[in-house]
Amino acid sequence: MRIILFTGKGGVGKTTLAAASALLSAKNGYKTLIISTDAAHSLSDSFETHISNQPKQIVPNLFGQEINALEEITKKWGDIKKYLTALFASQGIDEIEAEEMSVFPGMEELFSLTQIHNYNKTSDYDVIIVDCAPTGDTLRLLSAPEITNWYLKHIFPIQRTAAKAIRPVANRVFPFPFPEDKIFEAMQKLTTQLAEMKEILSDNKKTSIRLVLNPEKMVIKEAQRAFTFFNLFGYSVDSIIVNRMIPPGVTDAYFKNWKTIQATYLQMIKECFSPLPIFTLEFLDQEIVGIELLLKIAKKVYGNKNPTQLFLSKKPIVIEKAKGGFDMFLNLPFVEKKDLDLYRNEEELIIRVGNYKRNILLPQTLLNYSIKSAKFEKEKLKISFRQKII
Ligand SMILES: Nc1ncnc2c1ncn2[C@@H]1O[C@H](COP(=O)(O)OP(=O)(O)O)[C@@H](O)[C@H]1O
Ligand SMILES: [Mg+2]
Repeated sequence: MRIILFTGKGGVGKTTLAAASALLSAKNGYKTLIISTDAAHSLSDSFETHISNQPKQIVPNLFGQEINALEEITKKWGDIKKYLTALFASQGIDEIEAEEMSVFPGMEELFSLTQIHNYNKTSDYDVIIVDCAPTGDTLRLLSAPEITNWYLKHIFPIQRTAAKAIRPVANRVFPFPFPEDKIFEAMQKLTTQLAEMKEILSDNKKTSIRLVLNPEKMVIKEAQRAFTFFNLFGYSVDSIIVNRMIPPGVTDAYFKNWKTIQATYLQMIKECFSPLPIFTLEFLDQEIVGIELLLKIAKKVYGNKNPTQLFLSKKPIVIEKAKGGFDMFLNLPFVEKKDLDLYRNEEELIIRVGNYKRNILLPQTLLNYSIKSAKFEKEKLKISFRQKII
């Protein structure tokens, strides 16, 4: 199965390009499902047909689904949420605030994504195309499995087995409500599911992200930030799609300046994101809605290429054997050295880049080594692990 996520700043053309790619994928004979995790669902508008919470056939081989995040949250987080609200309230937190604290930012998108996990299990589709929320939210969404795990680990430090023994007296002894068995069950299920999902999403032979851009300063900046983040978290980006290029045939004086600006930015995009393949789509003289037009633009974008192809599969984190230890390379373009902070806490390597923090659980092989140096080599952060001197 192949999973392709489309993301980018608001309004750049994510839904349009996701829909077009899905149509071409279906036309090429792959059983394709397009799902939208953006709360502002617009697949229905794009395909000009009603798409709901359940997969619905749009054309032969193509199915669409707009996920209802609230329903997913209720199913998978409902019991935990009830418990957390009671727990916070027992600590004197106002009921409304307690309710608010029992969900965290990014949760809606996260639970939308768990659908991918289900489809991966059932193998019902060859290709899943995800029309994601704007970049900022997607970033949260992709770090959400880690955040949730952190949340669960720290809020529920009590082991289930210990809980069993304590429970008979717990509610008398502890000044907070004690989690019931079903809460532990729900948590365990969720933790496993999230770990598996993280594995699916960071499997760079199966999953890749496509960044949609417009040739404009702010949009490029945001895409760069997103690209750094994806690399940091081990998710691969396989191509860039530059949308809304003014066609060469437009000679109107009004657009002359725009064309020069766009050419400069296109060059900048190439310099920034190389060796990623860069696709372009011109600014049409009409909105892109409906099957016919979507298919037409898909062919404009991909030419004779298969849209489901993995255009570039570059591992964001690589570990190599070196003299006296190992070197770990993290692909981190666009990072300024002053933005970087690194420290180690036993088996955890904590990397802070700008506003993002990543905890990398070090592989077993590296645990007996200590960090000797960390430096930038080209666009990569090289961390050298060497034998501990006792
Ligand atoms: N290349 C283009 N030419 C003309 N209209 C476009 C183009 N790309 C997108 N649009 C239109 O712009 C609007 C926003 O696009 P959409 O794909 O919904 O963006 P996003 O999902 O990133 O918010 C839609 O009405 C779409 O039809
Ligand atoms: Mg959209």
